[in-house]
Amino acid sequence: MKENQLLLNAESVLQNNWKNGFTIPCEGLYPFQWNWDSGFIAIGLAHIDLERAKQEIKSLLLGQWKNGFIPHILFHNKSDSYFPGPEVHASHLNAHAPKLPTSGITQPPVLGFAIEAIYDISNETEKTFVEEVYDQAFLLQQYFYTQRDPYDEGLVYICHNWESGTDNTPVWDLIWKDLDSPNYELNRRDTQHVDAVNRPSNREYQHYIHLIELFKEWRYDDTLIAKNCPFLIQDPLFNAMLIKSNESLVRLGKLLGKDKEVAQLSVWHQKAITTFNSKLFNEDKGAYVYYDLRNRRTIDYVSSSSFAPLFAGIATKAIADSIIKTHFDRGIFSGKENELLLCASFDPTSQDFDPKRYWRGPVWINLNWIIYHGLKRYGFKREAEQLKSDTLYLLEKFGFYEYFDPRKEVVEGLEIGYGGNNFSWSAALYIDFIKRT
Ligand code: GLC
Repeated sequence: MKENQLLLNAESVLQNNWKNGFTIPCEGLYPFQWNWDSGFIAIGLAHIDLERAKQEIKSLLLGQWKNGFIPHILFHNKSDSYFPGPEVHASHLNAHAPKLPTSGITQPPVLGFAIEAIYDISNETEKTFVEEVYDQAFLLQQYFYTQRDPYDEGLVYICHNWESGTDNTPVWDLIWKDLDSPNYELNRRDTQHVDAVNRPSNREYQHYIHLIELFKEWRYDDTLIAKNCPFLIQDPLFNAMLIKSNESLVRLGKLLGKDKEVAQLSVWHQKAITTFNSKLFNEDKGAYVYYDLRNRRTIDYVSSSSFAPLFAGIATKAIADSIIKTHFDRGIFSGKENELLLCASFDPTSQDFDPKRYWRGPVWINLNWIIYHGLKRYGFKREAEQLKSDTLYLLEKFGFYEYFDPRKEVVEGLEIGYGGNNFSWSAALYIDFIKRT
């Protein structure tokens, strides 16, 4: 499809998913406001409608808790097409929660760099907007570094797989294996909207709900969660997003004369990068991996999250070189014959790789966007161009699906992508890929 036509289609996806103040990720499947979706959506919106981009962020900030936390779902509206809804999450159990019903878990903190992107796309005219939202964005960073880093390492933990954004990556199988979650009766709606073969299993969902039930018992208290939660992971994608947001807020803070905030962010930033490299880089795998804080063990699985640190400038030149050599261009993620489209969401050589199922293999557009900018940042021009052209090929062939098969040969014979269609961040980031290179 021609670029102009596809740009128009992307705009109409975002228009149709706009609910008077915020954008839902996908009609039916995800009918509320989601945290990191909104960051990516706002970046796309900034190219076509700055007012809506700013409103998207302001609506997200309406869900901020008094301690700075921003939840992963904001229930501004009612809908019975999604499980688990506000009554399951029961955020009112925590004294910091706002009146607006939200979930009590979070998502990768893209807010800081989304604000910076809006500012840049506006040709630096939106300083007043930055001023309006800066303090709340700073509070979010502060929340993570003061409440989610029990050993004061500069790395924060996530306590639920939904916090990772990569909901059912095989990495979590290791945690579920040791969990004896009850057999909750599930009222799943997702499998009514899309093929169950592309979604997590029921057993996985029972673990997801089990963790939420524990959090409610603990009233979403961070100290109790850090002490008792069976899922306590230092995730490379999550921490990379936080570090990238530090960097963005340092730049914007300097612009606004926020000296105290800039000094504090710089301290967190340096410490985070040092620990990130010493603790999460795995030489054997040639990639960043995960650390299980509860069981004090490294989980040396490689996923697309393993490459996100390039985007935040965390890797040294030597580390970046080794990532590229091992995984890109006839490496593990491109395939020995370059038979794979970039970038599978999980190690294609693993027995757990599943090219059709959610985060266990398919290509996701937001991760491609993050990795593309990371590759560019380190000067890997050829790899960056490959990643961009693979992304555009998928979107041009199929439209704005939620995720896509990474196998070139299979893709040639397919008519559609996977998961939900008319998916907002796929449309929004397409716009950014085309308009800002
Ligand atoms: C899925 C994705 C998550 C995303 C949400 C809404 O749960 O795994 O990352 O935020 O959908 O699009």
